[in-house]
Amino acid sequence: MFSRVTSAHVSGIDATEVQVEADINLVGMPFFTIVGLAEGAVKESKERVRSALRNIDYDIFAAQITLNLAPADLKKDGGHYDLPIAIGLLAAMNPKSYNLDSTLLLGELSLDGALRGVSGVLCMCAWAKNMGIKRVVLPYDNADEAALVQGIDIYPFHHLSEAIDFLRGEKEYPPYRSESVNFNTNIYEQDFSDIKGQFAARRAAEIAAAGMHNIIMVGSPGSGKTMIARRIPSILPPMSMDEALLTTKVHSVAGLLRDKGALVIKRPFIAPHHTASNVAIIGGGSKAMPGHVSIATHGVLFMDEMLEFNRSVLEVLRQPLEDNAVTIARAGRTVTYPANFMLVAACNPCPCGYHGDARKPCSCTPQSVTKYQARLSGPLLDRIDLHIHLIGVEFKDLESAKAGESSEQIRERVAKAHEIQKNRFKDESGVYFNAQMSEKLLQRYAPLDSACKKLMGLAMDKYTLSARAYGKIIKTARTIADLAGSTEIASEHVAEALQYRILDK
Ligand SMILES: Nc1ncnc2c1ncn2[C@@H]1O[C@H](COP(=O)(O)OP(=O)(O)OP(=O)(O)O)[C@@H](O)[C@H]1O
Ligand SMILES: [Mg+2]
Repeated sequence: MFSRVTSAHVSGIDATEVQVEADINLVGMPFFTIVGLAEGAVKESKERVRSALRNIDYDIFAAQITLNLAPADLKKDGGHYDLPIAIGLLAAMNPKSYNLDSTLLLGELSLDGALRGVSGVLCMCAWAKNMGIKRVVLPYDNADEAALVQGIDIYPFHHLSEAIDFLRGEKEYPPYRSESVNFNTNIYEQDFSDIKGQFAARRAAEIAAAGMHNIIMVGSPGSGKTMIARRIPSILPPMSMDEALLTTKVHSVAGLLRDKGALVIKRPFIAPHHTASNVAIIGGGSKAMPGHVSIATHGVLFMDEMLEFNRSVLEVLRQPLEDNAVTIARAGRTVTYPANFMLVAACNPCPCGYHGDARKPCSCTPQSVTKYQARLSGPLLDRIDLHIHLIGVEFKDLESAKAGESSEQIRERVAKAHEIQKNRFKDESGVYFNAQMSEKLLQRYAPLDSACKKLMGLAMDKYTLSARAYGKIIKTARTIADLAGSTEIASEHVAEALQYRILDK
């Protein structure tokens, strides 16, 4: 007796088909084997399925049972094969009573037959819809996530016995409908109006958000660097449906969604500790899981105390910053995840933290300051467009009861600048923001008039700015011009952009 059930495998954020085939022979010595490169959680699936079926009075194990997970050369991992295996066994015993046509099954079982949420559901449902599969049976915990995919019927259940009733046609269930998502709700608890003073830093954060430029804040302890960084997601425009779906897929694969419901509409803010390993940042491990750079997709990756990070971590960040994606190779498989984030970094200017702060003398020797700052140079700095210096908030600003501009007010301007860039780059594939412009695009979209060129020449000589700084200043100037609603870059835009290169000077 034989049955075949459709399930799926997730690699990166893409899914592929897995057929669960069950063959049962009622005569001979009983056995139960799973073949087809079952790894980790799938191997243990046997025990969960056996207990779950016994506990709902389906004792079918006095038989010779062979399960095959096809294709045979694909390594399969994850708990979501429990449900297709259990249903596959029952259908093999009784093929006529189960309707498994055009149905995707996924879900983990607990020993009493309850269905548990799994990761990667959005990726699997999106794949199923593209394959023309009509319905998905899965755990209730994953219902909202699955319902994000339009055009496929979702049937979520709390317990295996309900799924059996449904698939045998013994009980009717309506397909699941979730509430539509409102992208424009204000979902950030922290607001820019909390920040007193620090006008220059607020302005720089606005420019960075407007052109999706990476930014580094260097400053005294307690000057508000962490505070400002945490509020940057709140001044970015709301995510589009496409952005939200991509971020949600990554979070789904990383197993971050299970208890939090559906679509990620809040831009991620990921702040890894400076002791984080390369694998934590970039992704990898035995399951080739996404790392912080991918989880931060369409949001902010905040590297607080950047100089305390291991040098090799800073090195591995180069590829995602360049390509907006990471490729991880692990034991026989290569997985690519998106890594499209805005990098916000913060550090102190010297070991004591007060170098350049007129209100408190710095206790470091000139040599130790030079040595400390030397750690800042290098490949990572090449990819950061804006550098700013913060000193502690002045007492009069801190005392003033007047609230600063709110995130909403700033966000409106940033959204306008994003709109301008969307139009500008509509014919350039893979380029959405000023920060992503190549040399060629800079010439096309950010030409300088003679006054700007003269100013750039003077500044390059006076501050001995490097050639790499040149392009960054023009990109930043382009964003400043966009914020001002100006089609041309004017010398005041260049002059302001020049201020954000303190680490080159
Ligand atoms: N501009 C500001 N407006 C209001 N409060 C501020 C401001 N700057 C600092 N603070 C207060 O000081 C605290 C510390 O600020 P924050 O953690 O942002 O400093 P930091 O620059 O990150 O310091 P460190 O270098 O020590 O990490 C904040 O929690 C806040 O209470
Ligand atoms: Mg801090």
